[in-house]
Order: sequence, then C-alpha cells, then structure tokens
Amino acid sequence: MAVVLKLDGVSKSFARVEKNDITNALENINLEMHSGEFISLVGTSGCGKSTMLRLIAGLITPTTGTLTVNGEKIEGPATSRGMMFQQHTLFPWLTVEKNIAFADTMAGKNKEQASVDEVNRMLKVIGLENFRVDYPAQLSGGMQQRVALARSLICKPEILLLDEPLGALDSFTRMNMQDEILNLWKENKQLVIMVTHDVDEAIYMGTKVLVMEPHPGRINNIIDIDLEYPRNRASSKFVEYRRQILDLLHFGQKED
Ligand SMILES: Nc1ncnc2c1ncn2[C@@H]1O[C@H](COP(=O)(O)OP(=O)(O)OP(=O)(O)O)[C@@H](O)[C@H]1O
Ligand SMILES: [Mg+2]
Repeated sequence: MAVVLKLDGVSKSFARVEKNDITNALENINLEMHSGEFISLVGTSGCGKSTMLRLIAGLITPTTGTLTVNGEKIEGPATSRGMMFQQHTLFPWLTVEKNIAFADTMAGKNKEQASVDEVNRMLKVIGLENFRVDYPAQLSGGMQQRVALARSLICKPEILLLDEPLGALDSFTRMNMQDEILNLWKENKQLVIMVTHDVDEAIYMGTKVLVMEPHPGRINNIIDIDLEYPRNRASSKFVEYRRQILDLLHFGQKED
C-alpha cells in the first residue's frame, strides 16, 4: 500500500532536570514523505536525527504537532514502521540466522518455509552465509551491524527507518551494502528514511537529502537529487551536490 507520512508542526523537547532547563531536540518540523522515496538525513551530532526517527517509529511522542500515516495519527510502534537503531540490539543468545528470523516471527509472518527462504536471502545480501550459526559475540562490529540491518530489511516495512545503518563498516563493504539496500528498496518501493554522517552516501542513495541544523533541531534545506541510479560518485553533478551540502553544513571549501 502506498503511504504518505506527514509531520505537521512537530517539536520535541527533553527536560534536563539536573540543569533545570530543556533541550529543544526538534522545532517546528513540517514534512511530507511518500512511498518510493529514499530520504537521506544529514546534520551534525545532536541536531535531532535519531529523535525524528524515534518519533516516526512511535517510540516517543512529540511535544507539539502531529505525525500521521495516510491521515492516521502515529500513536505507538507498528510493524509497518521498522527501525534499525544506531546502537544495534542483537540478541546475544540467538545465532545470526535466528536473530534475523526473529524479526520475521515478530511481524507475524512466520510461515516456516517462507521465513527460511527469506533468511537465506538476507544472509546472502549481507554476505554472512558462512556465519549463520555463529553468535553475535563471535562477530566483528561491522558483521553485527549487517545482521541488525538484515533484521530490519526482512520484515519489508512500508516505512523503513535506518539510523546510521552502515556506520561500522569498512568503505568497501559499505559501498556494497549501499547497493544492496538500494536494490531491495527498488524491489519493495517502500519509504526509506536513512540517517548518515557520510555526505557521499546521502547523495549516492537518496532521492532527497534533508540537511538539518542543531539548537534547536530543524530542517535547513531539502535537496532533490536529480541523478539516475546507479549513480556515479565522480560525475560533475554529484560533485556539485556534495559541494552544496557541505556548504549547508558549514564545511564548504574556500575556492583556491
Ligand atoms: N531521551 C533523551 N533525554 C534527554 N535528551 C535527549 C534524549 N534524546 C535526545 N536528547 C537530546 O536531543 C538532542 C538531539 O538528540 P539526537 O539523538 O536526536 O541527535 P542526533 O542528531 O541523532 O545525533 P548523533 O548524530 O550524535 O546521533 C541532543 O541534544 C540530545 O542530548
Ligand atoms: Mg543519532
């Protein structure tokens, strides 16, 4: 089903009791996002990216404003809105394949064989077919992160929320995983919202890049990335987008 996700005047403040003040993590966010879009969220640490994903996931409620999916208010978590957390949360007592299958079971899709096929496919996508019976503690940080990613992808949620999903990976694995995520997105045509600190990754993957600003957290700019997939990181248009976004993040290079 096609979805429209709307944020209307959304703000989120957190009380800091010990300092007797509040943090305005997000202020007056107005956004509309649709199935088939791949939204990259970039911005400096603390500008409210994870807070925005948690609000959409229904894990926290806004201080003001409303979030809706197809006109219905988000009032809590739902399997149609899947989230991969910044600090991934694998079950240490389950093997790689059982960690991945667990998500499918939770989503109520546990038709035994279908689940086994999907788990096998996901193990292939993340390149860990030979580690299916290993436990998380036996894996490297990057491998654990790929298992967590597979767990969020297997449920095929209508809205997929990824919080720095590739941050722990070496650059080669990272580029492969970018392509794998894009392939799954093209197949499922869901709405993906992905936080990344990597401007190239944001441009390479996103149909749009949202640039955020901190204190209070807000959206500074929305840039439509008008490039065909697969994208060429060295093309002049790509390089121009990079320059534009780095400028907005105040990391612009001075001309020689
Ligand atoms: N549960 C919480 N209680 C109090 N303050 C919070 C809470 N969650 C977030 N904040 C504050 O809200 C602001 C935004 O936090 P958030 O985690 O959304 O940032 P972020 O953009 O994801 O940063 P990073 O890139 O470092 O992950 C920060 O100032 C943070 O201290
Ligand atoms: Mg964060």
